[in-house]
Amino acid sequence: MSISISSFFAFSANRGGAMTRHAGGAIFDFSKQAISIDELQSFRAILTQKNAHDAVKRLAAGEIVNPTEGRAATHMRERDLAHTSRHDVLRAMAEHIARSGIETVVSVGIGGSDLGLRLADDVFQASGLKQRVQLRFCTGLDPVEWQQAVEGLNPATTAFVLASKSFSTTETLMTGDRAKHWLRSHATTHMYAATSSPARARAYGIADANIVAFDESVGGRYSVWSAVNLPLRVAYGNAPVDAMLAGAHSVDQLVLNDQQFDTSPYISALSRQFNRNSINITNNVIVPYSWAFRKLAEYLQQLVMESNGKRVSTSGAAIATDPCSAIWGTVGTAAQHAYFQWLHQHPVGAAVEIIAVKPSGDVGSKALFENAVAQSRALAFGLEPDANDALAGYKRTTGNRPNTFIGLPDVSPRTLGALLAHYEASVFIEALLNDINPFDQYGVEYGKLLAKEVAAGGDTSHFDASTKSLIEWAQKAS
Ligand code: F6P
Repeated sequence: MSISISSFFAFSANRGGAMTRHAGGAIFDFSKQAISIDELQSFRAILTQKNAHDAVKRLAAGEIVNPTEGRAATHMRERDLAHTSRHDVLRAMAEHIARSGIETVVSVGIGGSDLGLRLADDVFQASGLKQRVQLRFCTGLDPVEWQQAVEGLNPATTAFVLASKSFSTTETLMTGDRAKHWLRSHATTHMYAATSSPARARAYGIADANIVAFDESVGGRYSVWSAVNLPLRVAYGNAPVDAMLAGAHSVDQLVLNDQQFDTSPYISALSRQFNRNSINITNNVIVPYSWAFRKLAEYLQQLVMESNGKRVSTSGAAIATDPCSAIWGTVGTAAQHAYFQWLHQHPVGAAVEIIAVKPSGDVGSKALFENAVAQSRALAFGLEPDANDALAGYKRTTGNRPNTFIGLPDVSPRTLGALLAHYEASVFIEALLNDINPFDQYGVEYGKLLAKEVAAGGDTSHFDASTKSLIEWAQKAS
């Protein structure tokens, strides 16, 4: 990389302040990113050319922004509490389940119908909220996961919520079959569905009164804002979920009012775009220094990569830019003792997003924040050992690893909502920059089709030799 982050600080005493933004009570310090103020301006000119502000307004207004599926993307509307009377049905259903003698609710869903709920569950618990109804999850097909999900539970006091926008997802329906069988005589009353395909849920056998519907225009990876959050409402009550929505809405308003492309989602999107396309840093590592946010990277993998992992533009032509970073990461400080060696000394390395919570009085929470700040500094500025040290060459870290520091005011539903809305807006802006549709996912669809074809059995002669031999291996007695 030709430019150096340390030179920004050397030449501008104000780099820190000039590159820091605030949103939803959080501080976003982009000063240790590798993009210069001038380069930010050039990207903003591209956004102006692309009428980015109008695009954000069209998204919020519920216009068609997903041309391949002919749909709007109305997740922002879902969290505008002033205009969502439909949440009243959802709220009432949550109260009904919580007061019906149910002691455990098992949330069954996958991808967007699962990840956001798990993340929110962790954050809600860590914020001190207590579950009035125990919440468990089951996302996949693995019998071990199923066993663990229902271990020690009683069918008479357990409810299942099948969360599936399409109500056609194999993993969710197969787990639903297991639940039906396990519930025995309670199957009709204790199974609920949150879906935008109520007819399919009905045909599957869910009682009409147990179905809560949401709009088809809420994308799968935005489901946490929709009726899919029913299990959270059952477990924690409606107030914290509404607080999460309100936190997200506050950031939506910030972005909608930003005609200068200067709020945190814009700088985040522009930095990532710069990293990939100008300095060839294609990995973006998410390191939350907070146990409550340990599932953030998984959540963002779907949000970012399922949205922008595309090869063609909205017009169908191959794109010349790299539209999407590879997202991965784990909780700090454990991450420091795993792959930070690679982050510090691999020849290419990655961009890093460090998320830390304002320390409470607890010593561990203070130490976490200190580690987060120290790593951000080490990644940016590196280490030049004493020239007399015989091991200087081995100890040297070049620094110049672009990183963003996000300081959260607290661990709370509202802060979670604000953080996720920040990321969602940045994904949309990256899509605009690359002229791609972030709301479809045809690559995933093909994998689903092939899995069905393999599951159907029958003639496999048209399969490749590898697939055939793996199927034969699985069928052979061990
Ligand atoms: O993985 C593809 C996907 O369609 C995601 O976009 C979605 O979150 C997930 O599957 C689950 O889909 P559904 O909510 O329809 O079951």
